[in-house]
Amino acid sequence: MENSGTIRIGNENFDFPIIEGIEGERALDTRTLRAKSGCITFDEGYGNTGSCLSEISFINGEKGILRHRGYPIEQLAEHSSFLETAYLVIYGQLPTADKLAAFCAEVRNHSSIHTGMRHHFEGFPSNAHPMAILSSMLNSLGAYYPEMSSNNREQDLAHFDESAALLISKVRTIAAMTFRMKQGLPFVFPDHSRRYAENFLHMMFSEPYNDYQDTSGASNALDLFLLLHADHEQNCSTSTVRMVASGGANLFASVSAGVCALWGPSHGGANMAVIKMLEEIHAAGDDGSRFIKDAKEGKAKLMGFGHRVYKNYDPRAKILGKSSERVLEGLGINDPLLDIAKHLERAALEDEYFVKRKLYPNVDFYSGILLKAIGIPVEMFTVMFAIGRMPGWIANWKEIAENSKSRIHRPRQVYTGSAIRDYLKVDER
Ligand code: ACO
Repeated sequence: MENSGTIRIGNENFDFPIIEGIEGERALDTRTLRAKSGCITFDEGYGNTGSCLSEISFINGEKGILRHRGYPIEQLAEHSSFLETAYLVIYGQLPTADKLAAFCAEVRNHSSIHTGMRHHFEGFPSNAHPMAILSSMLNSLGAYYPEMSSNNREQDLAHFDESAALLISKVRTIAAMTFRMKQGLPFVFPDHSRRYAENFLHMMFSEPYNDYQDTSGASNALDLFLLLHADHEQNCSTSTVRMVASGGANLFASVSAGVCALWGPSHGGANMAVIKMLEEIHAAGDDGSRFIKDAKEGKAKLMGFGHRVYKNYDPRAKILGKSSERVLEGLGINDPLLDIAKHLERAALEDEYFVKRKLYPNVDFYSGILLKAIGIPVEMFTVMFAIGRMPGWIANWKEIAENSKSRIHRPRQVYTGSAIRDYLKVDER
């Protein structure tokens, strides 16, 4: 049958239905495999495993397509804003003008954090990594809103609209406070007259004697950066959020776990690693050619290149590449790292090693150059990714929490350790 598939194990055949997504992707529904056959599938890294049915984002990695709720990322990047796209990702529809205004007002009204939380910052050493602080603070935030973080799904969902707006707002305030604390600078209160991204830059860079003014379009570029990170299907951090949510944990705990998963250099931490790589190449007087040679010989990894799903250009990288150039031009910055990045990109796109493995620039390749130009310190780059990804994590938590049939995520394993041993046998020690 066209809509079923057969797995043959030994001499026995087992039939399974095929589930089809609306874009034609097909999945063999093996949920009854173990019960029928005693066998499980082994798919380390989950490259062939669909962990859920989801209505939020669609990626076609072969064609370089990304859509949120059906809207192509290119259209959203050109016409939408971060908060409008956040609303779309979370609620499934573009908001009317009234709904968007109400959502923005709710986000604005939640921008301050409880005074008690200011003391938490005093407990961190000034060399603490901002991602460690962010993850702790987001989980602590739940403690200040026990009615929204009850781990009772009905109750947490009843407060969902408020907790979603609150998190989108406060993640930005916590990020800016982290930067100020690490610099030994006093905290700056949010300014309700400013838009989302500009308010963040104000909380980062305003001084009592020098109010931050965006004269170069930095806040628009930052808004675009955040929009481009809003969601990305079942990536490592989003899958982590869903995993934590599947056990019934509240939204605050789930997104805090998402921050931890994002931190690693193979995931969100790559944006920091790209700048470090470009700076090292520059310091060594290389134009990128030597580094490419090392990458091909397995001595180095070209950070910001390659993706588990995209086997074509990451559409977000294309948009960010152009935007970085515009921002640097607008700010009158001549960054040699941009020239090295462009050279690396050209060289890699023509080199057989990268072409054969379908390794293209991903979103992190140009995002660091953009953030650096805006004045964000490298250590904060992955935090910026987390602010952008918050809507996607929230939407995925909601999808799990609203599904009364969702089961706890609990993969199996193939055990390869010692066979049974006897504690009382002395000669086994
Ligand atoms: N530089 C050089 N070679 C690479 C790179 C790279 N960046 N990425 C993959 N390869 C090579 C691998 O060594 C492998 O080669 P082989 O077939 O000779 O063994 C081949 O390409 C296939 O790579 P996989 O390891 O199968 O790719 P996987 O899907 O497991 O990993 C990942 C994807 C983690 C993104 C990887 O490409 C990588 O480490 N890239 C650099 C880090 C990075 O930019 N991460 C950000 C990802 S996007 C995001 O999370 C926002």
